[in-house]
Amino acid sequence: MNLKIIQLGTMHLKDCMDIDQKSLNGIWTQSQWEKELTHPKRICLGIIEMETKKILGICSAWLVIDEIQITFIAVHPLYQRRGLGKFLLSDIIKRSKSLQTNSIYLEVKNNNEQAKAFYKSMGFKTVGIRSNFYKDGSDALVLNKETNKKS
Ligand SMILES: CC(C)(COP(=O)(O)OP(=O)(O)OC[C@H]1O[C@@H](n2cnc3c(N)ncnc32)[C@H](O)[C@@H]1OP(=O)(O)O)[C@@H](O)C(=O)NCCC(=O)NCCS
Repeated sequence: MNLKIIQLGTMHLKDCMDIDQKSLNGIWTQSQWEKELTHPKRICLGIIEMETKKILGICSAWLVIDEIQITFIAVHPLYQRRGLGKFLLSDIIKRSKSLQTNSIYLEVKNNNEQAKAFYKSMGFKTVGIRSNFYKDGSDALVLNKETNKKS
């Protein structure tokens, strides 16, 4: 596969909603996605398969002063566990270094073992817990990666 990371825009709205629906049961509404894709402080990246122009993975993040807050990351279920998540998150980590931000934060559901294993493999550490954070009552772990370090 010939894959490339691109900045997503409103023309990718349908792809974003499709991956959101298929991988996370649709956590954001259409208007939330529209905002994510147009707001100047958001970094919204996608992995595109060059031959088919299909979007296979998405990562959205906010730049808040000297931190990056990842708000969404997902790979299309048919393409998971092939290194695409790593490709996307490595790109955000690289951008974080070039933007001179100090760290990346994100929240993950405490029972999302696949995502927890993924973030651990990417060097993220648990730095907090938010009880009863999600609509279904589950807790969120707050994960962090310092990007000004070599790791
Ligand atoms: C989490 C997610 C983005 C990871 O993307 P991915 O492309 O499947 O992950 P990668 O193939 O890049 O995996 C990189 C490493 O993460 C770890 N990992 C990923 N999926 C894993 C799983 N199901 N079980 C155990 N380890 C896993 C492994 O160490 C893996 O390296 P390896 O394959 O060489 O062993 C993807 O599984 C996904 O979209 N999940 C559903 C949406 C979601 O939960 N998003 C996170 C919300 S906070």
